[in-house]
Amino acid sequence: MFADRVLSGMRPTGRLHIGHYHGALKNWVRLQEEYECLFFVADWHALTTLYEDPAAIEASVYDMVVDWLACGLDPNRCTIFIQSKVPEHAELSLLLGMITPVGWLERVPTYKDQQQQLAERDLATYGFLGYPLMQAADILIYRANMVPVGEDQVSHLELVRELARRFNFIYGREPGFEDKAKAAVRKLGSKKAKRYEALRTAYQEQGDAEALAEARELLEDTQNLTLGDRERLFGFLEGARRVILPEPQALLTETPRVPGLDGRKMSKSYGNAIMLREDPAEVTKKIRTMQTDPARMRRSDPGNPENCPVWPLHQIYSDAKTREWVVQGCTTAGIGCLDCKEPLIQEIIAEQGVMRERAQKYVDDPQLVRNIVADGCERARKLADETMDDVRAAMGLKYD
Ligand code: TRP
Ligand code: SF4
Repeated sequence: MFADRVLSGMRPTGRLHIGHYHGALKNWVRLQEEYECLFFVADWHALTTLYEDPAAIEASVYDMVVDWLACGLDPNRCTIFIQSKVPEHAELSLLLGMITPVGWLERVPTYKDQQQQLAERDLATYGFLGYPLMQAADILIYRANMVPVGEDQVSHLELVRELARRFNFIYGREPGFEDKAKAAVRKLGSKKAKRYEALRTAYQEQGDAEALAEARELLEDTQNLTLGDRERLFGFLEGARRVILPEPQALLTETPRVPGLDGRKMSKSYGNAIMLREDPAEVTKKIRTMQTDPARMRRSDPGNPENCPVWPLHQIYSDAKTREWVVQGCTTAGIGCLDCKEPLIQEIIAEQGVMRERAQKYVDDPQLVRNIVADGCERARKLADETMDDVRAAMGLKYD
């Protein structure tokens, strides 16, 4: 309903690896070219599970931002900030908490899954239960409509949408809504007003979802509306409510699976990761000792790339010709595994070289990173404040 705005966050739990790059950051870098983007360090989210070890979080906040910059996030094209430096996130989280049924949070699949996976930590806390609620505040406070996330976060986005809907349903009511909405329709001008009415009727009487989408587009293309009228016209399409907090969409990142050195998911805690900005000698050693198709016991045994954790890396890093060479050489024992890994090593080192270069000035002068983040926090805070004004007013918290 507002300009297209993208928001995403990442928890600062340690240095990033190439799985983060290909799974998320590469996509963020692309998005900043096209949309207004906000990317933040979710330090409070990290605390929900690491509350006993805050030093680990503290140590990785700025390192993570350097990794982001190394990957190509450009502070002139996106806003980079730290969640806890925009305390309005906490305020919105608290206020949304008033209308969040506990059952909704308990039913989010990651809640029980994560408790089981991290059984060594006590996650029977209020903060951990509220993880997706806090995420809702992160997103809704910027009225972001696109949220690039991985598959595991889709259920959280579903909850965010339900909360936005519930909020608008409860607080979007205003006296004389119909009259105000109709007055706003007239302000569209006669041609657009007619079209709007036709689409609205098609949606309300026949449930025509395409009509709803077209009407929303029509509103998005209309510039000269006040914020209040905009909210009313969006809300009027679906019922008699203003849309104060628009519903965001998950932007599913088409994540190539990046396997770790042992074929399991790449993760620092498994010790199977290639880190970003890693030393070339270390990259070489890690790839050379990486597991391969167990069928290739000897150099003369043919193998099958499908059974080899090196293959998915070729799919990410190698061109078609190299991949063909791998398949051919592997299945006929024409090449050895070390031959096969060599072009991969070169590609990864080249990619990392660019990152190390971009990061150098920030490593040399950490104050630069702090300034970027301080600027970002200030910008983010202004945007957050605009939404909070509306939210406070809608919830009857404006006494002046
Ligand atoms: N939960 C996300 C993750 O683990 C991080 C996150 C926190 C986030 N708040 C967000 C992502 C808001 C997108 C939008 O990856
Ligand atoms: Fe894996 Fe390549 Fe060895 Fe085949 S040749 S088993 S794809 S490393």
